Order: sequence, then C-alpha cells, then structure tokens
Amino acid sequence: RNFKRQMECRIDIEGLNAPFLAIYESLIPAEEEKAKQKQLLTLLEKLVSKEWPKARLYLYGSCANSFDFSKSDIDVCLTIEEADIKKSEILLKLADILQSDNLQNVQALTRARVPIVKLKDPVTGISCDICINNVLAVVNTKLLRDYAQIDVRLRQLAFIVKHWAKSRGVNETYQGTLSSYAYVLMCIHFLQQRKPAILPCLQGMETTYSVTVEDVDCAFFDRVEKLRDFGSHNKESIAQLVWAFFNYWAYCHDYTDAVISVRTGNIISKRLKDWTRRIGNDRHLICIEDPFETSHDLGRVVDKHSIKVLREEFERAADILQYDPNPCVALFEPY
Ligand code: CTP
Ligand code: MG
Repeated sequence: RNFKRQMECRIDIEGLNAPFLAIYESLIPAEEEKAKQKQLLTLLEKLVSKEWPKARLYLYGSCANSFDFSKSDIDVCLTIEEADIKKSEILLKLADILQSDNLQNVQALTRARVPIVKLKDPVTGISCDICINNVLAVVNTKLLRDYAQIDVRLRQLAFIVKHWAKSRGVNETYQGTLSSYAYVLMCIHFLQQRKPAILPCLQGMETTYSVTVEDVDCAFFDRVEKLRDFGSHNKESIAQLVWAFFNYWAYCHDYTDAVISVRTGNIISKRLKDWTRRIGNDRHLICIEDPFETSHDLGRVVDKHSIKVLREEFERAADILQYDPNPCVALFEPY
C-alpha cells in the first residue's frame, strides 16, 4: 500500500506550488524587523558589558537560523566565565540590570529546565528570552543556518511544515508534540534522503569548522557557498516535496526501529542507540537524533497519547494533499 501511494502523487500537485510559495513569502520577517532585533541585541550588549566586560551575547534559535516567522520572539545566549557564581545568581543579577533600564516584564525563571530571563523591549516591541552558557544551541543554530543556505527548498519546506504544525497544535513540547527545532531537523533529513539528494551531510564532509563544547566535538563543513549547486540535479518542486514529506511520516517511516539522523545523513537503528524501550520518561516513540548531543532524542517528549495525535495529523495532511480539492484551506485549518 505504501509503495503504491508513493507512486501515485496527485497529478495536479503542481497547482500547489504558487499557494505554498505565497504562504512562505508572507511568513518571512521584513528587513526592518531584523533591524529591530539587532537594535535590541546592541542595547542588551551595552547593559551586560557594564557589569561583565568579558561576557558576550549570541542570538540563537529561529531568529538566527533563518527559520523564523515574522513577529517572532528572539532567543539570546549570554556566555560568561564566572565559574564561581551560580547560574541562578547570574540570572537574578541580569534581571536586576535589565529592570533598571526600563525593559518591561522582566522575569527570572531560575527553576525552568533551561533557566532564563524573559523581557519585553517597549521601544521595538520585541520579547526576548536570555539563557546562560547554552553554547551547543548557538552551534546547532549555525548548523541549521548553514543548511538553509544550500538549497532554498529547505527553508520553503520547513516554513510550510512549521506553519502546519503551529496551525494544527502539534508544535507544543509541553503537550508531548515536537519542537520547531525537531521539525527543521526532520526537513533536513528528508532532503538529505531524496534521490538525487537535495542536501548533503555537512557533518560527514571535510571539517572546516570545529568547536568543542561541554566535551562534545562539533565539526562540520561550513563553506556552504561552495555547495550552492548541490541540489540542482533534483528538480522536485516545493509542492512535490511537501506531499512526499507528509507521505513519508504518515505511511513510510518505520516507527518501530528507525532513528532519523542528520549527523550521518541516514536512518539508523533504534537498537544501535539502545532506544528500544522506555527509560524513565524517555519513550522513544518517534526518534530524532540531535546532531551534536547524540544521546538526545528530540522525540523524547512524545508519549503514548501524543504519538497517536502526531501520526493522525501526518496522515490527515498526507490524505488532504492526496484527495482534497482545496488542500491549502484544510491543511492549515486551526485545530
Ligand atoms: N534547542 C536545542 N535542543 C532542543 C530544543 C531547542 O538545542 N531540544 C535549541 C536550538 O538551538 C533551537 C533553539 O533552541 O534552534 C530554539 O528552539 P525552538 O523554540 O524549538 O525553535 P525556534 O527555531 O526558536 O522556533 P520558533 O520559531 O517556533 O520559536
Ligand atoms: Mg524560538
């Protein structure tokens, strides 16, 4: 059945290229929004360096990996080498500094899984989360941004998938569905697997960029300007790719044994990673290997209820693209 479905993409799927591209274009943030983000970062750098001259601020997450929608919040990482001060004390001090400079809604969340300070800048209207020394996130942000520069179809596909996930309520890690980061990795892996491939495996190539963070070696090829033609042998359109993406996750992925791995550019086996059974809260019902923290399964948030929700949503999307006369309406219908 799966094989048959795969061969039978709707003949008029190409009619969806224009609407998908229109959605993509409408979600891209305007240049002036990016300028306002920079302006806020500059203000924060000024305030932070008064207290900690050696500290640095990095943007990470979607605002820096090129997968952000218009009007997104920004994620900032403060790197600081005060080994003797606890993270929570730095966060409280930081909250103090920001508060006294008229930033709004300043809140230190010292007990969160990733402790942060939240704030809103009244001048630009931008909200921001600041975390401390989360350097792996800064590095995986660069990896995603570098992939996005190789073939524009990655950014287009990921925008459609993120927009679908947000519309359908399956982009909520606290409810057991997947993070935006996980969805982008699913898109990268999917494009690595197309025949011919649309994306290479940057971590499998010659190392041109390398850092060691918390004992993790992060090494990959980052001269992506040399890879601009990489995907040109594959002529698939965005509509075909969106169709094939949902068809893959609905009807072709082996949920029992497969782990998707951007690091290797391949599917690897759950047995190989010892992800075959539940350990603590990690159930490994859908497995997405983090490219650097390879013991992290980004599907670990998914439980026995939400895996059903997720798979039903994949099937719904695949079926809409297969049979619905007006797929764009149904695909992004608020849940
Ligand atoms: N991140 C991570 N490990 C996770 C989840 C997130 O390292 N399990 C880091 C990644 O660097 C990611 C960033 O945190 O880019 C933000 O994650 P997330 O909120 O999922 O993604 P955004 O790209 O910011 O998405 P959105 O536009 O929906 O805010
Ligand atoms: Mg974010």
